[in-house]
Amino acid sequence: MANPKLITLGIESSCDETGIGIYSSEEGLISHKLFSQIELHAEFGGVVPELASRDHIQKTLPLINEALEESDVNLADITGIAYTAGPGLAGALLVGGSIAQSLAWGLNIPALGIHHMEGHLLAPLLELEKPSFPFVALLVSGGHTLLVDVTAIGEYKILGESLDDAVGEAFDKTAKILGLGYPGGPALAKLAQEGVEGRFLFPRPMTDRPGLDFSFSGLKTFARNTFANFPEEKANIAKAFEVAATETLVMKCKRALEKTGFKTLVVAGGVSANLSLRDALNKMTKTIHADVFYPAQDFCTDNGAMIALAGHYRFQSGQRNDDYEISIKPRWSLEELSSI
Ligand code: KG4
Ligand code: ZN
Repeated sequence: MANPKLITLGIESSCDETGIGIYSSEEGLISHKLFSQIELHAEFGGVVPELASRDHIQKTLPLINEALEESDVNLADITGIAYTAGPGLAGALLVGGSIAQSLAWGLNIPALGIHHMEGHLLAPLLELEKPSFPFVALLVSGGHTLLVDVTAIGEYKILGESLDDAVGEAFDKTAKILGLGYPGGPALAKLAQEGVEGRFLFPRPMTDRPGLDFSFSGLKTFARNTFANFPEEKANIAKAFEVAATETLVMKCKRALEKTGFKTLVVAGGVSANLSLRDALNKMTKTIHADVFYPAQDFCTDNGAMIALAGHYRFQSGQRNDDYEISIKPRWSLEELSSI
């Protein structure tokens, strides 16, 4: 008998973006909607958790309606709901979790809590050309910097992680030092394009010793000191920071590929949108005859499509949870996930 058609609704609300996605087992991603709270938090220079939660309450249901309309799907056609259960801001996660579980209960369908970083990790599988397992994943976001050994969906072994600031956080903090506002990653990347490479040399933290962990907080301090001495050279400082962060990530990816013997690298999370990083990773993987895969630009940063996709794979494998308990996990390791 053919597999029944599955239509998964995905809800992302872990931080400052409300994301909705609808994934069909037959047609793939059929709709996605995003509302970014950037303007709401900009005047405070960072995410204000209570404001984030309140805004998710306002936006989630209207966005679900828009996504249903766009894809010509009725609520009654949805066969399962996936929501981000963690890691993230507790209040923000509770909004997505409550709406997902209530809707699922009302529709008599299952709801499943998804790990936000698994969503990022699987986002490249939304593309036509998909990576095949096993692979090394570099996950670079505002909250995490992880190198992961991925043998299958749910089979994750962490090879290395940041001991202090995540790389996206380091981009944001350095941007703030240079007066570029919030969130600073994209603004810093833009300014770096005008900078001269080699004018300042920042360190490549933790590359002089073995191991796959990262430390990015020193780069931010380096940027602060350089800016104090050369306040007119913002673009050159942005360039020096970006080159140092990028080269550090590239060196560790190369090591992780050598260590595992895998020939495929997957890069995802907000910082994977960075074109200099992509350029450097493309060159490195070419020299060692490995392949590298990224999500589409829209699916690098937080979105609902990646949560719908992760939910789809898990529902498809028969995983389900019918207790309708609104469970969230603000702190949650990828290694705790079950394989499918
Ligand atoms: O994955 P994401 O949307 O949210 C988290 O899960 O944290 O990642 C957001 C992070 C922010 O730190 C943002 O500044 C960074 O990704 N980011 C970038 C770029 N686009 C987003 N960093 C560097 N270059 C970019 N083009
Ligand atoms: Zn994220």
